[in-house]
Amino acid sequence: MIEEGAQNQKTPKPKRVVDPTIKDFSLRPQNFSDYIGQDEVKKNLSVAIQAAKIRKEPLDHILLHGPAGLGKTTLAHIIANEMGVSVKMTSGPALEKQGDLAAILTNLKENDILFIDEIHRLRPAIEEVLYSAMEDFGIDIIIGEGPSARNVRLNLPRFTLIGATTKVSMLSSPLRDRFGNIFKLAFYKNEDILKIIKRTAKLLKYNIEDKAAHEIARSSRQTPRIANRLLKRIRDFAEVKNLKQINNDITKNGLASLGIDQLGLDQADRDILELIISKFNGGPVGLSAIAAATSEEQNTIEEVYEPYLLKIGFLERTHRGRIATKSAHEHLGYEQRRA
Ligand SMILES: Nc1ncnc2c1ncn2[C@@H]1O[C@H](COP(=O)(O)OP(=O)(O)OP(=O)(O)O)[C@@H](O)[C@H]1O
Ligand SMILES: [Mg+2]
Repeated sequence: MIEEGAQNQKTPKPKRVVDPTIKDFSLRPQNFSDYIGQDEVKKNLSVAIQAAKIRKEPLDHILLHGPAGLGKTTLAHIIANEMGVSVKMTSGPALEKQGDLAAILTNLKENDILFIDEIHRLRPAIEEVLYSAMEDFGIDIIIGEGPSARNVRLNLPRFTLIGATTKVSMLSSPLRDRFGNIFKLAFYKNEDILKIIKRTAKLLKYNIEDKAAHEIARSSRQTPRIANRLLKRIRDFAEVKNLKQINNDITKNGLASLGIDQLGLDQADRDILELIISKFNGGPVGLSAIAAATSEEQNTIEEVYEPYLLKIGFLERTHRGRIATKSAHEHLGYEQRRA
């Protein structure tokens, strides 16, 4: 800060345009005390961190799972902060060759954290390398080709792997078993979402009426990322209207014009339910048919839309496919034709 000020004195520059991604990043809690909710996870993680610090050892490997936007990546950064170590970020699909993983692993320092997002999407050949890295802190790599190829054992620094996934059921059991800590992030309680909205409003330097905060919380699908996104969109409406604070009216109108209903469902959610109800007689219907008819990827439907629809009991998953429930019919104003 001081340095920046000193620089500015020498060469005055025009005011820098604030990069919105920097702002976004600052919304991310940096330590446990800012990380709202998920009390069980925080409690157990704090114990694991304290114990590792006392033993002066790296943390046992950690698997974080749960629906998108609940704070897995945020938690990985916090764990690194609390441990006072660096974190390297990568993801399952980004690791194409064994060499990609070897390069990352050999560049880690003692006690560092390697974060692999979407760890359920690791290729089997990479997963094999990870097994020995996780268990023995060593990897065997093949150098050269053909008859001159030889196996070389590389020792690694003792590191902590944090894996994150929205689909824990897709993880192979040998990989799952190598995590000493497995934590499931749950959808947030309404009171915690409210706290997150108020915290974000403060960081954005915008006042929000209590009623408006409740309104946004109700539409946030119990998910911090959505709460923050909605708050920022509603702030846009308030800013355009020159309001000094976000009130209930602007919030209600804003949510309506974003197509978000009282349960937080947007047009895409309603389209999926509508399709199952009107085209497939309420279901059961296979995921591939839903994907084809809505032009969404199967993965997106499974990972983005479905978890919350299942959670609020609007959708059921059976071995024959998805079924829209009675509550889904009622919410969309349909009568259920079949039980
Ligand atoms: N417990 C929390 N308290 C306050 N804010 C939070 C919390 N959890 C998440 N957030 C906010 O929500 C945003 C989304 O969180 P994050 O990116 O960590 O989710 P994720 O679980 O990694 O999602 P994905 O599965 O899509 O990668 C963060 O930028 C952060 O601002
Ligand atoms: Mg993430």
